[in-house]
Parts: sequence; C-alpha cells; structure tokens
Amino acid sequence: MKPNSPGASRHQIQNHFFTTPTEELVQRGFATCQQTMGKSVLLRGLIEFTNHCNCNCLYCGIRRGNQAIRRYRLAEEEILELVARGRELQLSTFVLQGGEDPEWHTDRICRLVERIKAFTGPAAAVTLSCGNRTPAEYRSMASAGADRYLIRFETSDPELYARLHHGQSLAERLDAVRAVQAAGLQTGSGFMTGLPGQTVETELNNILLSKELELDMVGVGPFIPHPQTPLASSRQQGLEATIRATALLRLALPQAHLPATTSAGSLAADGREQMIAAGANVLMPNITTKDFRKDYALYPGKICLDETDIEGAVQGLVPTLATLGKKLSFARGDAPIWSSSNQQI
Ligand code: 5AD
Repeated sequence: MKPNSPGASRHQIQNHFFTTPTEELVQRGFATCQQTMGKSVLLRGLIEFTNHCNCNCLYCGIRRGNQAIRRYRLAEEEILELVARGRELQLSTFVLQGGEDPEWHTDRICRLVERIKAFTGPAAAVTLSCGNRTPAEYRSMASAGADRYLIRFETSDPELYARLHHGQSLAERLDAVRAVQAAGLQTGSGFMTGLPGQTVETELNNILLSKELELDMVGVGPFIPHPQTPLASSRQQGLEATIRATALLRLALPQAHLPATTSAGSLAADGREQMIAAGANVLMPNITTKDFRKDYALYPGKICLDETDIEGAVQGLVPTLATLGKKLSFARGDAPIWSSSNQQI
C-alpha cells in the first residue's frame, strides 16, 4: 500500500462490516497498520487538568449533575511540572483534557499553551481536548501554539446525539469538528461503541463518518455505564464492536492515528493490546497527578489509577508490544500530512 493511500472505500467498509469475520478483520487492520505506520506505537502523555464541567451528557461521570464526585482543577504551575516530568521521560506529546470548565476560558488555555511551548520548544506537541468552543477560539488556540485538538462526535445518529446531550445537535458538533480543521489544528474525533440506543447501522455510520471527516486521529472506546449517571442501568456490551471498529478504521483511514483507549483497557485487561493487534498505533499514559486521577471518572473501573511510576507503567507495556511485533516510539507523531508539510517549510 502506498503511504498516501486513500484507504478502503465506503462500499468496501460496508461489506467488511457486515461480512468479514473478526479474526480476519483484525489481521487486515494490523497488516495495514504495519504498512502505513510501521512498528511504532506512539506515546501521548495525558493530563486531565479539570473535571469541572458545564455539560450534562447522560453517559459521562463528570457531568454537571453528578454531585457525588470531588471536583478539582490543576493549577498552571502543576500542569507545567507534569509536562517537565513528561519531558524527562522523553514524552513529546501532551494531551490536556478537561471538562467544559468556565474557569478555564480560552484565553487562560492559550496562556498556558504559550507557557508549555516556551518550555518545550517545537520538540513537543500540545493537544487540547476541552469541548465545544467557537471557530475564533480554535484559531486563538492554534495561534498560541496548540498543535492538535480532540473533539469526539460520540455517535453519528442525530436523534441519539440530541437525547444524550440535552438537545444539543450533532450538526453543531460536526461544525465544531470542521472549525477545528479550518483553524489548522490536527484534528481528532471519534465515538463510543455500544451506546444504549445505538443500532448496528449507527455503528457502521460512525466509521463512515470518521472517513468522511478525513480525521487525523480517531478515538474509539466502549461505552461503560457509570453508576452516578442516568444511564447507570444500561447494558454493558462487549469489546468486540470496538475491536472491529479499530480494524475498519485502519482500513478506511490508513494514516490516521488510532489510540488504544483507556476505556478498552478498563473493560478488558488486554483491551488496549487487542486494539493494537487490530491496527491501533497510539498509547496515552495518564500522567495526571495521582491523587486526582480517580476523580476524572468518566466511567467506572478506569485503569492506571494507582501507578505512581509512569515510566514503569509505560515500560511495562514493552514486552506485550514486542510479542505483537511493535515498539514504543517517543516521536511527536504528527499526522503524516502535517509532518510532510512541515518538512517543506
Ligand atoms: N464510557 C466510555 N467512554 C466515555 N466517555 C465519556 N463517558 C464515557 C463512558 N461512560 C468518553 C467520551 C468522551 C471521552 C473523553 O470519553 O467519548 O469524548
């Protein structure tokens, strides 16, 4: 496959989705990943900088209506310390993820990004993931030095989207994804598998929509019912839909960065490894201050809550990666189109 391959067509994806057995899909996803991404599994240091959130998404443990959690907000100095610690460990992407916290308005985020970039220089990339903002705000973030932005569309079914997000529309969310792209940020989106009310067709459409949006990164994980949300009593689906989606996304978007997600690792002990075996190429070790990690509980059973030694946790993955023919990479891991355009400058 050529490095700039457009990937499988809608029609091919649809056929695979309905007819190809999981084992074969996994093999195809892995082989495609080896061809386009090589053996490297990229690392991104995840910093969950605030769990305050104005949103009330039905599935999410940090929703505004959940009064049973301790709310926290990391200070700028603390975030910079985590970045410094991450740099010592050779990490070269930092993902700042938080709820839609009014105290973390865009100006404040921009000043923080400037401070991080002043410290790291171009050696490290900054990814932001802090919800719906205006197109002008995404542009400010890019001007401040942010490299990437993550904003999942969550589900491709407009009615289900509105039900889960208190009437907010999928169209608005997709406008936000496009505004992020227009701001010149490398763009990640994605969805949950097994959401209550999500049909097989919706699961397919989630993959097709990711292709249509030409995403640089796609995050996928299983929905896990959180006991302090309105969806507490929903059924837990298995991991297979996530694994199939990973392989299909790799075929549909051969160059996209696909993380082996924490939610997959939380549902099954080897969930992240299964995703890598199906074509995922990114791991996101959580480098948030240990005390706060458990409070960023989007779903129950989240892994890596007790690890103090992030280096050990990361290195602990090496033997498993080796059995999959993979190795850890500390590169920035820009989306290919961005790294090639940077080279031209
Ligand atoms: N189960 C699994 N994933 C969840 N997320 C939020 N709540 C849950 C849950 N209960 C995901 C959403 C969000 C990302 C940060 O975490 O897809 O975009």
